[in-house]
Amino acid sequence: MDQPTATELSDDFETSCETVSGAKRNQTVDLRRVHCDPDFWYPVAWSRELKRGKTIGVRYAGQPIALIRPEEGNVFALEDRCAHRQVPLSKGRVQGQSVQCCYHGWAYGRSGRCIDVPYLGKGKLPNGVRTFPVIEQDGLIFVFPGDPEKARTVQLPATLARVDDPAYKTRRFGQEVGCHYSFMHENLMDMNHQFMHMKQMGQMRPRFLGQKREPGLVEARYSFARTGGKQPLGEALIFGERRDASAKHQDRDVMTIRTTYPYQTLHIQTGDEAPVMDLWIAYTPQDKDQLTNRTFGLLSVKRPGIPGLLDLAWPFLIAFTERIFAEDREIVELEQQAWKDLGGDHNLEVFPVINNLRALLAECGVPADTSKTDTPTACAGSTSCRTAEQPVATASRPAEAADASAPAGKPAPSTAAGSTPARQRAAGTGEKTATSAPKAAAAPPKRKRHRSRKPQKENSVTPSVS
Ligand code: FES
Ligand SMILES: [Fe+2]
Repeated sequence: MDQPTATELSDDFETSCETVSGAKRNQTVDLRRVHCDPDFWYPVAWSRELKRGKTIGVRYAGQPIALIRPEEGNVFALEDRCAHRQVPLSKGRVQGQSVQCCYHGWAYGRSGRCIDVPYLGKGKLPNGVRTFPVIEQDGLIFVFPGDPEKARTVQLPATLARVDDPAYKTRRFGQEVGCHYSFMHENLMDMNHQFMHMKQMGQMRPRFLGQKREPGLVEARYSFARTGGKQPLGEALIFGERRDASAKHQDRDVMTIRTTYPYQTLHIQTGDEAPVMDLWIAYTPQDKDQLTNRTFGLLSVKRPGIPGLLDLAWPFLIAFTERIFAEDREIVELEQQAWKDLGGDHNLEVFPVINNLRALLAECGVPADTSKTDTPTACAGSTSCRTAEQPVATASRPAEAADASAPAGKPAPSTAAGSTPARQRAAGTGEKTATSAPKAAAAPPKRKRHRSRKPQKENSVTPSVS
């Protein structure tokens, strides 16, 4: 007997007519104009991209950020504009626990405070730049672009995917994608789009098993039945066995996809067994309008019984997942282009779980006209906010002594005031350091209206795929 389609089984699909008209009615807010809430931790780079004694430039929603890894101690993050003439600090050089601008040599400590101007007396030092709290975990560097005071209470999951579990092998992947982050969330959660992947995966029929909606969370569960075509090798590697279209393989595995704002996870499980696949993924907005994102994914695959088999087959699995990602990327960028061409969101979404997801993203995000991302909370550190002679008086800037006294090669206890002493892992070493990252549940974000800052230039980051 034919399996019902996903939409036939959706628990509230009977109200589909209402859903369709409701979806149109509810589009008073254009989701593509909703910005990410900056009061969360966002990945901005892979740990391996930032070598010791180096600095790189990254972006969060148009905000340029310099990541600095001293020879000793943890990574710190500063606004990537020298207070003098706005040259990127990421073009400078790392000296002890500071970064020195490449142009006139102004130096900034971990707190962002200017600690040296080579041609000025120590008593006349000008202001510094904004600093961002940083956490380094599981091979990723996260920054907290919002209110640094909130960084202490907003959590990251203890472990991303299964990176710590030797029973799994983890792939780190991602690149810049030319679309609003909401398209990425919708694409991953809507398994009806297996239709598009037919060439890669054969004919698969998704069956929608149910959904969950909680504050800050939407979850969808599916099973799958193969209706034709051969199982691709990459998929067989994930499941550890070859599967055909016979009844014994139908709907055995349950795929659970969850958006826990602002992140997304997907895992596949058979019965009570450990998941065969566990994905954690985040989409960090890049440009000021948030119409591009940089995707950071950790894909953990359970090792099959034969030792070394997964390592041998890894290149095939990478190629398989790359092909799938390429198809997804092309389609979401086409969706984004249509939004631009039409001047807004004309989606006619009929799948209730996706409408719930859209509502969640709209609720948790920040309408573009009230976005908090443009106004640095710590702007008291910027020269545009005070004169050179005015003292620094802001919670996000520690005492001057914190920078001045931090000896080269000796890490400050945290990246900056407002940052969080956190679970840190050095790039590629597996080394973990102090771990006191707050693990409190993330409360639904509160919206605030901020003055907008001058427009910022866009920049791109290097795609990183392994
Ligand atoms: S522009 Fe940075 S020191 Fe002059
Ligand atoms: Fe897809």
